[in-house]
Amino acid sequence: MSNPTPYEQELLAKASKYLPGGNGGNTNFPNDLKFLARKGLGSHIWDVSGNEYIDWLMGSGPMVLGHAHHTVTEAVLEAVSHGSTFFTTNEKAVLLAEELCSAVPCAEQVRFTTSGTDACFQCMRAARTFTNREKILKFEGGFHGTSDYAMMSVTPSTAEEYPQAVSSTLGIPESIQDLMLIAPFNDLDTTTAIINAHHDEIAAVIIEPIQRIIAPRPGFLQGLRDLTSKNGILLIFDEMVTGFRLAYGGAQEFYGVTPDLCSVGKIMGGGYPLAATMGRRDIMSVFDQSSTANDSYVNQIGTLNGDPIGCAAGLATLNELKKAGTYEKLHETGRQLRLGLIEICNTNEIDIQSCGEDAIFDIVFTNQEIKNYRDGLSGNAILMERFNAGLLQNGVLKGWPQKFYPSLAHTEDDVVKTLDAFKTIIPSLKQ
Ligand SMILES: Cc1ncc(COP(=O)(O)O)c(C=O)c1O
Repeated sequence: MSNPTPYEQELLAKASKYLPGGNGGNTNFPNDLKFLARKGLGSHIWDVSGNEYIDWLMGSGPMVLGHAHHTVTEAVLEAVSHGSTFFTTNEKAVLLAEELCSAVPCAEQVRFTTSGTDACFQCMRAARTFTNREKILKFEGGFHGTSDYAMMSVTPSTAEEYPQAVSSTLGIPESIQDLMLIAPFNDLDTTTAIINAHHDEIAAVIIEPIQRIIAPRPGFLQGLRDLTSKNGILLIFDEMVTGFRLAYGGAQEFYGVTPDLCSVGKIMGGGYPLAATMGRRDIMSVFDQSSTANDSYVNQIGTLNGDPIGCAAGLATLNELKKAGTYEKLHETGRQLRLGLIEICNTNEIDIQSCGEDAIFDIVFTNQEIKNYRDGLSGNAILMERFNAGLLQNGVLKGWPQKFYPSLAHTEDDVVKTLDAFKTIIPSLKQ
């Protein structure tokens, strides 16, 4: 697509001038496909030049009802007309906290933040305070936002010996590496060995229940649950992507494993800057200055934490998601697209692995089974780039480099058109 009008070209030039790298740090397209989003409605978005795209990126997950869903928009407009933020606890935040606690198995109390980065960071800090231990174990390739701790071994280019952490960005003090332990996802034996060797130093294990697009193998999450409980280590699910997507109660409900704490954001903020740390009441009490001894109080302040606009959007979104048949539809849309992609690859003798679950997935161009980050490196990156670019050229936007986020707004027509676009680009994939 692209082919920007002179006005969009002018804006793109301004983006290059005023934004580092010409972008906001999120999806960055190749030069010939760059566009600036102007509006979204349902499952489609439009760029400044008026080009229309079927959107499977959906804001990187939050827009599960579709863009500009009328009930969310109405709730936000109503909330905005009553003032946007107060820096005191507000009505909508209490109502949303109540709903979150009734929906999410581990949640007894909630602390709001404005980003997933902060929610994951607060989970780790609460765990350290509660257990009086310093180290956190995370999985290689797992993403928990951009805090210093989270940015360890997210995209390592070398295969360090586990549990050595390596920084995935510049600017992190070297000493942080020693506070993070790294294990391979879906490998309970190696994780057990690391935990046995460090059990009295580890405050928590943090995990994306679906790591990027890699689903947990049967028994892995339950194994971690047993292992952490046995060693007095807290289990944190980062449900930023899976929360309210796999099921109303997130991955905890979907896989039947309850962590001690979790971070949730994206969908539950209805597309507004809202996220939360939540979990067991005894652990969450570290955030309560009045009920905890001063030496175990975690001071967590944020100007816009739990602002009424985000909470109103969240409440309206959750109200829609609670309706009968929602999750069946979401999974079915994903299933149709996923099966269609697999079939096209099979017909054209293209090696792929289909990863994730129907509500969040992608294909990877390899014949090797993908259980963890290192297996994922076997994927053909050039084919993936051609796949993403080819779809975009044909008016289909997906997660870049990975992830399809089905939504309730996607139609059968969107699925058919996406598969048709894929068929069109097969010759270019095979070049
Ligand atoms: C699993 C996971 N954790 C944390 C984050 C960070 O959330 P945010 O971008 O709101 O800081 C993301 C963002 O995509 C995520 O996918």
